Amino acid sequence: MRFDVITLFPELFAPFLSAGVTRRAYETGQVDVRLWNLRDFAEGNYRRVDDRPFGGGPGMVMLAEPLARCLAAVKADRAEPGPVVLFSPIGERLDHAQVERWSAGAGAILLCGRYEGVDQRFIDAHVDVQMSLGDFVLSGGEIAAMALLDAVARLQPGVLNDAGSHQEDSFNPALDGLLDCPHYTRPEEWEGRKVPPELLSGHHARIEAWRRQQRLALTARHRPDLIAAARQAGRLSPSDEQFLSGL
Ligand SMILES: C[S@@+](CC[C@H](N)C(=O)[O-])C[C@H]1O[C@@H](n2cnc3c(N)ncnc32)[C@H](O)[C@@H]1O
Repeated sequence: MRFDVITLFPELFAPFLSAGVTRRAYETGQVDVRLWNLRDFAEGNYRRVDDRPFGGGPGMVMLAEPLARCLAAVKADRAEPGPVVLFSPIGERLDHAQVERWSAGAGAILLCGRYEGVDQRFIDAHVDVQMSLGDFVLSGGEIAAMALLDAVARLQPGVLNDAGSHQEDSFNPALDGLLDCPHYTRPEEWEGRKVPPELLSGHHARIEAWRRQQRLALTARHRPDLIAAARQAGRLSPSDEQFLSGL
């Protein structure tokens, strides 16, 4: 899959693409990331990419024209067109279901906003999807783009060291969309706190039963909405329900 990122700060992506899971996905080409510096498509001595808002008010607005030129260049360079995604607080909030859809697709063109945002006429003419990272305001769309790329990268086959590990992560449908269970490693006792004996039992079925109960308990406590969704989808067994009713 190929993601083209339009940004005023391509240098922000260098450390992200050269470390850990994202590096592996990037280097193998499973997640092909191309960076486009919007300023290269601006005109004039000052290479302006923004201007004051009509109607007054604080801040600057990203100009439609350099964006349109950059987007045309990106589209001309891509074999497949791909949707244009603008990161914005207006958009639908990114979640696991969306990440799964993007990770099974052919990629997209990601537009990172800056300043007060993008001239609305460019959005109306060219943007297919608006995507939000949550109900807060970032200084730019770059962190949101990296969040999407990271989440997509770790779902690609062979990118994680342990192939099955993302299957056990929070929100995964394979585990009924529940939160992940707690994890422990050596030593068996740390500052007087012991590892739960089930995990030291060496008994696979007992360990799995403990993990399931921990997932249920954590999810019921922190995200009851996910329990309700799993129940509605018929994903909770009678023993799950019995455990939950005893909490
Ligand atoms: C300072 S913000 C603009 C905020 C905008 N004036 C508003 O109040 O909704 C600059 C850019 O950061 C990005 N951004 C800010 N918050 C975001 C969020 N929650 N999710 C995704 N992108 C965000 C967008 O690309 C936005 O154009």
